[in-house]
Amino acid sequence: MSIRNRVAARADPATGTGSAAIDIVPSGKEAIRRAADLLREGALVAFPTETVYGIGGDATNDRAVADIFAAKSRPRFNPLIVHVPGLAEAEDLAAFDDRARRLARRFWPGALTLVLPRRPAAGVSLLASAGLDTVAVRVPAHPVARNLLRAAGRPVAAPSANRSGRVSPTMAAHVLAEFAAATDGPAPALILDGGPCSIGIESTVLDLTGPIPVLLRPGGVTREDLAEILSAVETPPADVGAGAPRSPGRLPSHYAPDLPVRLDATEARPGEALLAFGPEAPSGFAEILFLSQRGDLAEAAANLFAMLRRLDRPEFSGIAVMPIPERGLGQAINDRLRRAAAPQPDNR
Ligand code: TXA
Ligand code: MG
Repeated sequence: MSIRNRVAARADPATGTGSAAIDIVPSGKEAIRRAADLLREGALVAFPTETVYGIGGDATNDRAVADIFAAKSRPRFNPLIVHVPGLAEAEDLAAFDDRARRLARRFWPGALTLVLPRRPAAGVSLLASAGLDTVAVRVPAHPVARNLLRAAGRPVAAPSANRSGRVSPTMAAHVLAEFAAATDGPAPALILDGGPCSIGIESTVLDLTGPIPVLLRPGGVTREDLAEILSAVETPPADVGAGAPRSPGRLPSHYAPDLPVRLDATEARPGEALLAFGPEAPSGFAEILFLSQRGDLAEAAANLFAMLRRLDRPEFSGIAVMPIPERGLGQAINDRLRRAAAPQPDNR
């Protein structure tokens, strides 16, 4: 196997749960086989999906799932998405009704996650769904993810491969940047490099446990797409106050770079960098990156997280973002930007 990059950046935690080095390997057949073996052994593996990179573990292994939470410093009340290679495997884990089946047939494999009643007999770790009686399932479209899931032969719990509250990774190097510096606790044993993610924004999370579907997180499948199948979709009220929110990805501050983020910017403030949208940008910014100069929302979504990372540098005073239209993928983009701009609690 050709190992393109071996990084020995982490001190050996000597806990038995972490590894002293994280390998980034091109996602060829042999690498996928190795990653599948690691998953079956209970280790964590980062892999590409068409939305963002995930950090995966065997969803039926309590220890592996606990390691995912620890690696991300993720609050235990925030449940994980379980990834499977197809609808048949998904039906083993969750109770599908007609609506769910129609949605799965239309949008899977793809950027749609369905929250459904869990089948306890399926053996998915309770920790993965944070003790809820529901489970979030998704069939990703990325060929590396699909081959990995088939080779692993078991459901894989995989949140985005970033430390909790931070910007999701859309390239293998982003995953390394998230975990290489961590010297304590578990980390992915391997990062499968499948290139940049084509969609670049997370899956749409749709709760189908009640009579009217609830859009818990806008994502790669748009509201307009869902309307092809569903006559009504509700948006939950904003989560406020203490306690475990219904879908904790909806915490106000999330997807946050270190720099402050300012939305709907039309003019420069001193020292700011700009994320621009459309053919022209206002002058006076220290640096400008175009999410999409031709005003294309799919292109903007694919660039969003990588560009936020590129501008997140201490030489700037903040990241300003031009207005993005609130239609199609713009809803998911604006959702992430609003959370990136929200005041950050001390412990993200
Ligand atoms: O595109 C994606 O969905 C990526 C790739 C790797 O598949 N995964 C991802 O996972 O974004 P994560 O953990 O970063 O976000 C999962 C979201 C969270 O907002 C979580 O609260 C919600 O899904 N979720 C998971 N299980 C749930 C459940 N049983 N009920 C309600 N929300 C759930
Ligand atoms: Mg995430």
